[in-house]
Amino acid sequence: MPTTCVVGILWGDEGKGKVIDYLAADTDFVVRFGGGHNAGHTLVLPSGKLVLHLVPSGIVHAHTVNVIGNGVVVDPIHLVGEIDKLRQRGLRVELGQNLLLSERAHVILEAHRQQDHWHEQLRGSGKIGTTGRGIGPAYADRCSRIGLRLGDLLRPERLRSGLAAMVQQKNAWFGPSGLPPLDLEVMYRDLLAAGEKLRPGIVDAGAVLRRAHAAGQRILIEGAQGCLLDVEQGTYPFVTSSHASTGGAFSGTGLPPHAMRTVGIAKAYATRVGEGPFPTELKDELGNRLRIAGNEFGSTTGRPRRCGWFDSVAVRYSGAVSGVTELVLTNLDVLRGFPLRIAVAYRLPDGRTTTELPAFDLDQCVPEYVDLPGFTEDLQQVRQFAALPQNAQRYVQAIEQHTGLPVRTVSVGPGRDQVIVR
Ligand code: IMP
Repeated sequence: MPTTCVVGILWGDEGKGKVIDYLAADTDFVVRFGGGHNAGHTLVLPSGKLVLHLVPSGIVHAHTVNVIGNGVVVDPIHLVGEIDKLRQRGLRVELGQNLLLSERAHVILEAHRQQDHWHEQLRGSGKIGTTGRGIGPAYADRCSRIGLRLGDLLRPERLRSGLAAMVQQKNAWFGPSGLPPLDLEVMYRDLLAAGEKLRPGIVDAGAVLRRAHAAGQRILIEGAQGCLLDVEQGTYPFVTSSHASTGGAFSGTGLPPHAMRTVGIAKAYATRVGEGPFPTELKDELGNRLRIAGNEFGSTTGRPRRCGWFDSVAVRYSGAVSGVTELVLTNLDVLRGFPLRIAVAYRLPDGRTTTELPAFDLDQCVPEYVDLPGFTEDLQQVRQFAALPQNAQRYVQAIEQHTGLPVRTVSVGPGRDQVIVR
């Protein structure tokens, strides 16, 4: 199937960047469909580490066209800066050539960033732990139909009238709420300037992709965040504001839903950044050890990630809602020297047991586990499944058994070549 969609199976940070980098070698297009610069995809290249926030991971391959789809929210100032940084690293980034931006993608403004912080402060102890990038407020404006799209930045009259409507609405409450009132003229000038810089890249990206799809070109759709951060399917309200599971790949690119293969990226253990329920979380010294062994610190915000056991209840759920047919298991090498456990069911607050992910009271569910023997060998040089230590093989097989999904690829280190394909 020429179109493959790659999604994170839990709360993001599953190592999608590396997997997409690996798959992009055989791909014509790499497409982002949702989220914004809240994402952080880390690639370890021969030239060193590279963290991408908005630009799709295919940018490091000379032959791929990279597309920021209509479902993404774009901070134009951030994007211009990210492109500059990539060029400084010696990468070719040519708008309109190897980087296309959907004219339908909505714009994140400084005002959205301020709103994001303001909302978080008001939530107090119920805060979500957002990345503070203005993602939620930008999507909220899209739904309220006062958002601006990238194509507006190229149309001065539309931009001015759209901005005027937005400024009027926001200033009605910004001042009284202690947020600095918006200055229409300054925003208009800055957005026009950003639009000029991005102009060659702003196109009808959906039409480009549909033509490519019809011509049989290979398209890789790059999910951001993870299925459990999906605004509808995830652990609401502790979610992001976009459709991070496969559903968002159709509405967020303009590609049709048929003929798409979906691959789920799962870490060999579980992590989460920010607030929200996490049934298999390790709040003890073992969790600290795992954080250090896996270098589990956010690539966008640097925050320590919460760590826990592999959760097959959550993975099965996300796989089902996203139409995942296979898993890529990342970071298996990190579990060297750790005991191995897999959650296979939850005990609900009323005493019943379930293997379905509940929509409510997830924080009160107690996981039921199976324990497996660990391994002490270094896996980073292993390239054949049969050459893995027996206990590592058994762990992967147990994950397949409890999730019902085949693990076709195992990653055993951050480098491009540290992959086992079965
Ligand atoms: P927001 O997307 O900034 O609104 O944050 C909402 C939630 O999603 C917070 O818990 C964030 O930590 C989380 N989040 C957003 N983007 C990512 C990501 O790329 N990886 C992991 N967590 C993320």
